[in-house]
Amino acid sequence: MSERTQVAIIGAGPAGLVLSHLLHLQGIESVILESRSRDYVEKRIRAGMLEQRVVDLLISTGVGERLKREAMVHTGLNFQFEGERHRIPLEELTPGRNVTIYGQQEVVKDLIAARLAAGGVIRFEAAGQSVQGLDGLRPVVRYTESGELKELVADHIAGCDGFHGVCRGAVANSKVYEKVYPFAWLGILAQVAPSCEELIYARHERGFALHTMRTPKLTRLYLQCPVEDRVEQWSDDRIWSELSARLNIPGWSLKDGPIVDKGITEMRSFVHTPMQQGRLYLAGDSAHIVPPTGAKGMNLAIADSMVLAQALAEYYKSGSSEPLLRYAADCLPRVWRAQHFSWWWTTLFHRFEDADAQFQEQLQVSQLRYMLASRPALTSMAENYVGLDRVV
Ligand code: APR
Ligand code: PHB
Repeated sequence: MSERTQVAIIGAGPAGLVLSHLLHLQGIESVILESRSRDYVEKRIRAGMLEQRVVDLLISTGVGERLKREAMVHTGLNFQFEGERHRIPLEELTPGRNVTIYGQQEVVKDLIAARLAAGGVIRFEAAGQSVQGLDGLRPVVRYTESGELKELVADHIAGCDGFHGVCRGAVANSKVYEKVYPFAWLGILAQVAPSCEELIYARHERGFALHTMRTPKLTRLYLQCPVEDRVEQWSDDRIWSELSARLNIPGWSLKDGPIVDKGITEMRSFVHTPMQQGRLYLAGDSAHIVPPTGAKGMNLAIADSMVLAQALAEYYKSGSSEPLLRYAADCLPRVWRAQHFSWWWTTLFHRFEDADAQFQEQLQVSQLRYMLASRPALTSMAENYVGLDRVV
């Protein structure tokens, strides 16, 4: 027997959960299918920086209470290169706008709690296998739950199933834009207070390093490493000594502590078009990936869901499919702006080892010095960093 809903959502990451939450506020019913357990998605450590517009959305839609209490607002950030650290006053450059540190899994926890409290349906450990009938009026998701094959029939399907999901493959005539970087990030979470109140982006001859945080007692740190590296090659001692070599400056040294999580992330820029096929809409990582340097992945996933929720609300209110047909066109300008920023921010700080590496190094230093000397150049960086309200 098949179940029915208005919007079938595949994936309970930020894209799927925000979409379900926004639809609920518009009186639209949805069912989320998530292949992992609730415990797994609530503990999965991912990015942790929210743009101002995302913070505003979460607060204004009633899921920002814990965020208001626990998140860390950042009014500046630091660049480090040629052995010197420079503070960039974000708040001065982008009046009234900041970034907020709050882990992706905290956003996920708050949204899951809100959906379940409102009677929302999230089926954990229910894995989407295929989507069918996309060009008709009643598309279907086939999924497995407790070893049984089941069907969910909907008016619309949202493919919020991340980069490794099943939805993207159902889109015909696809074109992919892609860039894979020749390095990866080793990320750790350590039980130690942040060594600096703000983020530090360090360009160093040994490779990039980033000091960030999750709470006043938990530091998050990243190191550029070779793509072929495995976490087993990185003992705790080796990690701390490499981080110190890249981040320490005279008069300041990194504090260490027990490492509670370690992982290696590949770096990729990726856009899949079209972002829709009939009544299937791709949102978030299922349609696009950015390298983590610019911290745009979660923000972009939520931005797609804001556009999709609005278009679906219009459809159910007036019967007009116009905004749904424009969905991809409305999302892609922001996707490409974030792609550019993430690529640029990545190329500015990482060590390259290809034929023109030395040329690249000179460009990096020139651009970093130029930003320190030019308010317009710095402002352009800052408005992209905190997130643009409108992208054309
Ligand atoms: N069926 C059901 N669920 C699935 C399936 C499937 N076939 N395939 C994947 N999923 C689930 C994953 O387990 C995951 O929970 O879809 C969810 C996708 O969530 P995310 O990967 O978090 O993607 P998204 O919501 O688009 O958020 C993007 O996540 O990867 C980070 O850096 C990225 O911050 C960005 C954010
Ligand atoms: C993070 O806290 O995980 C983070 C912050 C800023 C970035 C990237 C990652 O640019």
